Amino acid sequence: MADIQLNSINCFYGASQSLFDINFSTTTGDTVVLLGPSGAGKSSLMRVFNLMQTPVSGDLSMGQYYFDFTKPPKSDDVRGLRTEVGMVFQQYHLWPHFTVLENLIEAPCKVLKMAKEQAIEKAMGLIARLRLHDLEHRYPAQLSGGQQQRVAIARALMMSPKVMLYDEPTAALDPQITAQFSEIIAELSELGITQIIVTHEIALAEKVASKVVYMEGGRIIEQGDKSILEHPATNELKHFLLH
Ligand SMILES: Nc1ncnc2c1ncn2[C@@H]1O[C@H](COP(=O)(O)OP(=O)(O)O)[C@@H](O)[C@H]1O
Ligand SMILES: [Mg+2]
Repeated sequence: MADIQLNSINCFYGASQSLFDINFSTTTGDTVVLLGPSGAGKSSLMRVFNLMQTPVSGDLSMGQYYFDFTKPPKSDDVRGLRTEVGMVFQQYHLWPHFTVLENLIEAPCKVLKMAKEQAIEKAMGLIARLRLHDLEHRYPAQLSGGQQQRVAIARALMMSPKVMLYDEPTAALDPQITAQFSEIIAELSELGITQIIVTHEIALAEKVASKVVYMEGGRIIEQGDKSILEHPATNELKHFLLH
């Protein structure tokens, strides 16, 4: 279970404020699509969900974890939360000198101390689920962009996260890959994984979103279910959707 709630989150880079009074909540299995122009604060908000960025005020609850950012977070809690949150970046950050299978089993074996045989068994299951059959011994450079993306997703799923974050996962991919990506999102949602996706692709949002959040200037301007894509309430979102 990973319901997520953010209350009155404020974040800074040095003296410059990047997030202003962010209030947001989502329930287990939701797929949240985060939209907004470049510089809106989408990546900054994503980094709050795994505490790569620590707000100066506000609070976050995620499943069993709760953080009041007016106090320094406990490092055990930070570590614990991070094991529940998987992240896929636009650049997939696969280890180039590791095969697909090695990329998948590295973190579970090193971080979770999972037995190698068990990690391999789990990896092979995910390789099948992510439609990567017969590619387990290839190196990342021998894979297409879409295949690399799916390896990055499989690698994150090896840690059995309750939450998955994707920051512009389809920016460099063609429509067919985007379609395959949205199928995988739907499957993971059925497994009860809460997913948050930053994307510029409205078509992807229409396909997968159960909830849409629109940001500008470090603030949430509008949020709601995906019907706001058809009937935006604010001029800002209306304007954004015209482009
Ligand atoms: N590491 C950083 N240091 C200082 N400012 C940053 C850093 N990362 C982002 N910013 C600033 O924070 C604001 C939000 O950026 P970001 O969250 O990356 O937006 P988005 O992902 O929506 O394009 C921007 O004004 C950006 O310049
Ligand atoms: Mg960004």
